[in-house]
Order: sequence, then C-alpha cells, then structure tokens
Amino acid sequence: MTLGGGAHGRINPFNVTAKPIMSDLHEFIRRLPKAELHLHIEGSLEPEMMFDLAQRNGIALPYASVDAVRAAYNFSDLQSFLDLYYAGAAVLRTARDFHDLTAAYVRRARADNVRHVELFFDPQTHTERGVPLADVFAGIAGALREAKAEDGFSSRLILCFLRHLPEADAFATLEAALPLRDEYADLWIGVGLDSGEVGNPPEKFAGVFARARELGLRVVAHAGEEGPPAYVRGALDTLRAERIDHGVRAEEDASLMRRLKESQTPLTVCPLSNLKLKGVDDMRDHNLARLLRAGLCVTVNSDDPAYFGGYMNANFIAVAEALSLSREELVTLARNSFLAAFVSDAERQPWLDEIDAMLRR
Ligand code: ADE
Ligand code: ZN
Repeated sequence: MTLGGGAHGRINPFNVTAKPIMSDLHEFIRRLPKAELHLHIEGSLEPEMMFDLAQRNGIALPYASVDAVRAAYNFSDLQSFLDLYYAGAAVLRTARDFHDLTAAYVRRARADNVRHVELFFDPQTHTERGVPLADVFAGIAGALREAKAEDGFSSRLILCFLRHLPEADAFATLEAALPLRDEYADLWIGVGLDSGEVGNPPEKFAGVFARARELGLRVVAHAGEEGPPAYVRGALDTLRAERIDHGVRAEEDASLMRRLKESQTPLTVCPLSNLKLKGVDDMRDHNLARLLRAGLCVTVNSDDPAYFGGYMNANFIAVAEALSLSREELVTLARNSFLAAFVSDAERQPWLDEIDAMLRR
C-alpha cells in the first residue's frame, strides 16, 4: 500500500511541502468506512505469496524472482491479464492456501477501513486442476469466519462462472456447489460471471442464471468492461443481474444510462483495473466522475489488486486526485458501497450511521 508517503513520497522530491495537502485527502479516504463489492480473491495473490505457495507445493514458476513477476504485469487488454492470472492461480492447491490468501486480503482490506467484502471466487480455475471444490470453500470461508470473530469484519461469497467456458460447465459447477450450501449458508449468497467478455455474451448463460435465481441466489455479472452496452442490457434483461460489475461502457448508450439511473442498479467500477487493462490511457480520462454526476449508483473497487497496483484506498485516491472528486462525492461512493451490498438493512445501517457521524466531527 502507498498510503501517506508511498509512491508520491518516493517520486516527489518536494514531498515535504506537498504532503499536508495530500495526506489530508488520503486520511479522509482512509477514515471512510467502505464495502468492497468487486474483488476476485485469486486476483489478490501477491507475487511474494505466489513464490511462498509455489515452494510449499513444489511447483516451479516460470519467473526467477518476485521482481520478475511484477515486471511481467504489463497488460495490453483483459485477455493478456487473464493469461497471467490463471497461470498464477495454479499455485493454489490446498484449503490452507486459500485460507492464507484470504487472510492476507482481509489484512489489507482492514488497513483500508473496508468493513465488508463480497468476495468473488472462480471454482472452475481450481477444479479443472483437481483441487476439490470443498477445499476451496473451506479455505476461503475459514479465513472469513476468523475475520468475523476477530473484529466483526463482514463478508459474503459470490461464486463466479468462467464465461469463456461452455454453459454446461457452469451448470456442473453450480450443481457441485449445492451440497455445500448449508455448510456455507452464512457466506455463499450469489453467483457472478467473469473472464473474457467479448464473444461470450450474457445470453450464453441464461439457463444457469435462471437456475441460480430459482435457488434463491443473488446474481451479478461482469458487463461493459470491454464488451459493448448490449452486454450490459443482456446482463440486466437475460441474467437479471442485480449489480453490474464494471459497466463503464454503458456510457456509450444514452437510453441505457437513463435506465441505470432510474433503476439505481449499482455499477462496481474498478479504476486501477481499467487503467492497467487499457480501458483508459490516463486516469484523468476515466468516466467514473461522469457516471457518478449523471446520477448512477457508482461504487469503487479493486478487482484484482495484486495485479493492478492497489487495493481499495489506492483506487479511491487515484480517482479522487485524477478526477478532482469532492469530499461529498467520496462520501457518496462510500455510502453507495453499503447501499449496494447484499446485506440486511440492520447490518447496513450502522455503517451508514458511522459515515454520517464522521462528517459531523
Ligand atoms: N477475472 C478476474 N478479473 C477479471 C476482470 N477484470 N474481468 C473479467 N474477469 C476477471
Ligand atoms: Zn472483475
């Protein structure tokens, strides 16, 4: 993390004079309670842990060092990232690996004053390598339950289907997970759709999402990250997605924008991800502020923080600085994250009250 005196401190020789203004904003962001609604746990695998787990599991990595891994994180688009992301996930073999990965994410989230996470995981990435689905659940859930017991850190799980694979594989994954539902009833609340978007429209998964809804699971879907606005419409109309993950390309369609404003369907926007995957060339060109100022329910999230250069607060800071967001807008983003969370109003209200109290101080 680079809060306070990180990247800025190292780059800027005049940091001594610049710091009070900077750290004011950083401190304001740090103090805001937040929920993270778009976080792939496999995307929180830091290179250091990749090496540790590779060693623990006797796996050879195609990199000589942690620095070499980081140097490889130069992406041209979503697919170029996914190739490395799936390769990196191969070091995750046991329930303990998933536990340690999740516990490490929780530590970083806590440091950013994230109070609640709705964590995505990709079972198919692991089961195809022979990792039992029960071990994936057990490891992630174990760490999340420990976090809850330690300080009330709140969480839910969203099982994502890989959209580059056939719908039949998604069905098989859902059916394989159902026997675990009771054991993880406190955590597993929904399904999502991720991986390579273009060429894999939402309609391909109409059947499995219908089944998930019948089962009472909540539904979200990545759409409008690289895919066109029609994919956002498909996610809403065919999958009945309750939130759109990314959704930034919705801006290209004025009537879709009106619809998203009217319905207040949340968009889980991931600014550093969009920058790293070349959705935008410069953070100053990011449309988050325009989406927010158009009245859409926008949230800020980190997506795959180990690959994209920052966790929750780094994403907030990046957009706050590049887009000159006001304090009021930052508060709206934080409030939206709780309003968009799949929690009861009784769970939600104390977080909203805390934001209000912080503003009164
Ligand atoms: N899987 C992990 N991160 C993703 C992203 N940003 N888009 C689609 N699938 C993903
Ligand atoms: Zn994502």
